[in-house]
Amino acid sequence: MFKTMGGNPRDFNKLDLNRLPSPCFVIDKKALQTNLEILYELKKQTNVKILIALKAFSTFSLAPIISEYLDGSCCSGLYESKLAKKYFGGEISTFSPAFKKDELNEIAEISDHIIFNSLNQVNNFSDIGKKFNSDIGIRINPLYSEVKNLKYSTASIDSRLGIHLKDLINYDMNKIDGIHFHTLCEQNFKPLANTWNEIKNIITPLCTDLKWVNLGGGHHITRKDYEINKLKFFLRKVSNDTNCQIYIEPGEAVVLDSGILIGEVIDYFKPNNELSPNIAITDISATSHIPDVIEAPYRPALLNEPNEGHKVVLGGPSCLAGDVIGKYNFSNHPKIGERIALLDQAHYTMVKTSFFNGVKLPSIAIWNSETDDLEIIKSFSYEDYENRLS
Ligand SMILES: Cc1ncc(COP(=O)(O)O)c(C=O)c1O
Repeated sequence: MFKTMGGNPRDFNKLDLNRLPSPCFVIDKKALQTNLEILYELKKQTNVKILIALKAFSTFSLAPIISEYLDGSCCSGLYESKLAKKYFGGEISTFSPAFKKDELNEIAEISDHIIFNSLNQVNNFSDIGKKFNSDIGIRINPLYSEVKNLKYSTASIDSRLGIHLKDLINYDMNKIDGIHFHTLCEQNFKPLANTWNEIKNIITPLCTDLKWVNLGGGHHITRKDYEINKLKFFLRKVSNDTNCQIYIEPGEAVVLDSGILIGEVIDYFKPNNELSPNIAITDISATSHIPDVIEAPYRPALLNEPNEGHKVVLGGPSCLAGDVIGKYNFSNHPKIGERIALLDQAHYTMVKTSFFNGVKLPSIAIWNSETDDLEIIKSFSYEDYENRLS
């Protein structure tokens, strides 16, 4: 079980949870804006370009405000790049572990950068990219990572993501415009610096032939304890040393602690067994709505959870035995119909939901903690479920 790095409630304790349908994701526009201002200041002071990773958050209703502050989008393939083009604008950088040839023309037409995962794909497809004036990038594996959760560690020797740097040493660098790596996950500044130190002696000489270096995502820049001044110094130095445009492509950091998932207690009971905790079945499903809870796994923070209290296991409404959100403290026994809210639920949630068990999908709402304006921007119906099937 990994500890969540988010969980700052910000202003969500001011929101009356009963104003919303349940379940419902709520994004605080003001909290998002605060994150975007931090990122914008970073851009201004270092000249770094920042692309939002749509895989983490692609709520396009908020694209206008995001595009005001950031430079564009980082995409994972055809659908995300189409969404980026339609709603987010700016630069589009698309990486895929392997592009399918029949999608590549369309991707290249949309994308400013196409980042390949193998020299095989560069050799086979860079002419398609060039035909549409897209820059050609290659993802490297720095073979260095401080990520504790191996599921999210991309830099092992046998990782399927990125080529080893030694493969570039005798390669014709004229075929390549940029180098990309992504090895961080929810990390502070130090692991980035350590990664760069591992590879800079090989990368820096190669950069004379390059336009850009993309340092991927996983930088938890908007977290309170993030060492942002060190990052600023580092980005200026890397930019000077390489003479390249530096990019980063954070997902989580853009929306960190700016969203919650509201749910409702549907039933509450104590199993007839002294050792078992009390159980609350909620309309939030870990497996259908917040699969990272099971995948990571991690325990999301609960709004206003006391340090001590009745121990209650919150579970979902699906048939999966492991559809469990976690064990929490409650000051009073939860009442049927009572609302709860899980914190830091904007990233890797709405983009990952499923209709498993026909469980109802959470609505999506935008709230402004400054003005208290609230708007439900999306609700899902039975027809949405049926349309996924045939
Ligand atoms: C290639 C790439 N770029 C950027 C990101 C965004 O990372 P994060 O949301 O942790 O900042 C990811 C996440 O998996 C990624 O794989």
